[in-house]
Amino acid sequence: MCGIIGYIGEKNCVPILLEGLRRLEYRGYDSAGIALIKDGRFHIQKKAGKVSDLAEAIRLLDGTFTATLGMGHTRWATHGEPNDANAHPHWDATKKIAVIHNGIIENYAAIRTKLVRDGHTFTGKTDTEVLAHLIGVMYEESKDLTTAVRHALAEVEGTYGLVVLSVHEPDKMIAARKGSPLILGVGEGENFVASDASAIVDHTRNVVYLDDGEIAVVTREGFRTVTIDDVSVTKQVQEVTLELSQIERGGYEHFMLKEINEQPETITNAMRGRLLVDQGNVVLGGLRHVMDKLLCARRFVITACGTSWHAGLVGKYMFEQIAKMPTEVEYASEFRYRNPIIRSDDVVFLISQSGETADTLAAAREAKAKHATVLGIVNVVGSSIARESHGGVYIHAGPEIGVASTKAFTSQLTVLALITLMLARARGMSEADGRVLAEEIASLPDKVRAILRNTETIKAIAHEFKDTPTALYLGRGANFPVALEGALKLKEISYIHAEGYPAAEMKHGPIALIDEAMPVVVVVPKDAIYEKVMSNIQEVRARKGRIIAVANEDDDEIEGLAEFVIRVPRTYGFFGPIINVIPLQLLAYYIAVARGTNVDQPRNLAKSVTVE
Ligand code: M6R
Repeated sequence: MCGIIGYIGEKNCVPILLEGLRRLEYRGYDSAGIALIKDGRFHIQKKAGKVSDLAEAIRLLDGTFTATLGMGHTRWATHGEPNDANAHPHWDATKKIAVIHNGIIENYAAIRTKLVRDGHTFTGKTDTEVLAHLIGVMYEESKDLTTAVRHALAEVEGTYGLVVLSVHEPDKMIAARKGSPLILGVGEGENFVASDASAIVDHTRNVVYLDDGEIAVVTREGFRTVTIDDVSVTKQVQEVTLELSQIERGGYEHFMLKEINEQPETITNAMRGRLLVDQGNVVLGGLRHVMDKLLCARRFVITACGTSWHAGLVGKYMFEQIAKMPTEVEYASEFRYRNPIIRSDDVVFLISQSGETADTLAAAREAKAKHATVLGIVNVVGSSIARESHGGVYIHAGPEIGVASTKAFTSQLTVLALITLMLARARGMSEADGRVLAEEIASLPDKVRAILRNTETIKAIAHEFKDTPTALYLGRGANFPVALEGALKLKEISYIHAEGYPAAEMKHGPIALIDEAMPVVVVVPKDAIYEKVMSNIQEVRARKGRIIAVANEDDDEIEGLAEFVIRVPRTYGFFGPIINVIPLQLLAYYIAVARGTNVDQPRNLAKSVTVE
């Protein structure tokens, strides 16, 4: 949700912290702040707004703001509006301890009430300021920073990834994690803390993933880790493979456009080494040890949020129609509190780009507690969901920085297609039939490439509809989730109200909205229900709705019905969503650009939703 970076070493850390914050800004971007310790004193700057506003404020300090120990934070507000006072870092009562924090302290109100009774006053409204005061109180008792943090965390409920600095002990950073990702970066004579590797990857590739309940004491020379109960923990240093070019815009105006254009490569990466076209089969190392569970399962459950949930809806079609596995799909936020009936012979798939979404992680834990086999379809390697699952498949889409998910969606669908084919073959599909499907999957990158080469029609449609206040997206079967995804993309980045609907369901209500001003985007590939969708288009046309069709290249009928036609290559039905969603991503993108919104950092959103 928010971004964290901390540095201890020999260099001036201000540019390191600012650059790290700039890289982390996609995680949250309503305010930012930095705390340094120098000459036994704290120096803190924090500001509502972007990291660039913070950088400008620091620039005006004219080089006086330098140090070799410091931490920075970029915020996505949970408690308290995004203003200077609520920006992190926060002090304790003595202003000798400062804290930056991701997550939510759920019992902060009770702690705050007690502290106020004891004479504490607060400058802002955040749960983090309460935590900082609590650590300060614990320090007065123990006179040891690590102990103070341990004792304070023993009293809090909720989630945190945090860094604590104190002028009492200006030779260390204390980092702690519960439910909010945090890594240590291990360098030569310098060490880092960060909420994700992108913040520190140009300084070190050696990282340590903290686990829930762990506290790290980080010095210039090294680090040690303990539990909240002060039991020592040994951690492995791992290497991250992230390339800098993956987290730069690389000449594109926005990360979202770069990521849309990366899809031929990212889809290829999702299938690389896994799809055996000649044998009409698939090998997935992360599922090999659970193959029995998969084949003997009573049913599959897919749980996820947002775009990943849309991928799950398409996955249901693939699993049921091709692999013949009964499958249910549910929002993770509903699943986790519903006390779902889960048995040990259920297989629960968690789909998540970040691997850190709080609701999806909680759903994973719920399913594990009920003894289901829990499998992740995750992008970020080493993320919480990946580590807590019994197995799974990485989608290998590379870092997705744009808040609106694009390439992760098509890679999730590609992995779902691979799992489907593998299971279908294991359940008796012939090699010849398997080969047909494998060839279809292998052909996807070129089909995406063909759409990306020809975006003029989409740009013209975007220009035509950029001022519409609303839009309707329709699709049927596996393309209904594509309609949902198209509408979500438009909402997120252009702030235009949009709804996705199963095309046939329109006549039960949404049809009342249709008039001569209403854009209706219809996904209408030449599949088994083509004629049915064409009838739905007729219904829109009869009410003078403005039809934008996503249709196959060889569809001659559609021209007479739709005002605009976006052509897509023909694709086997259940894999069609991987192709059909591309024009909808581009349409949302070009409309947002035409409206001048902040495409990569849309208002109120954050990339990785680590709070529930
Ligand atoms: O990281 P995840 O895939 O678990 O994230 C789930 C949703 O928060 C995410 O898909 C969100 O809906 C995106 N902003 C969609 O573009």
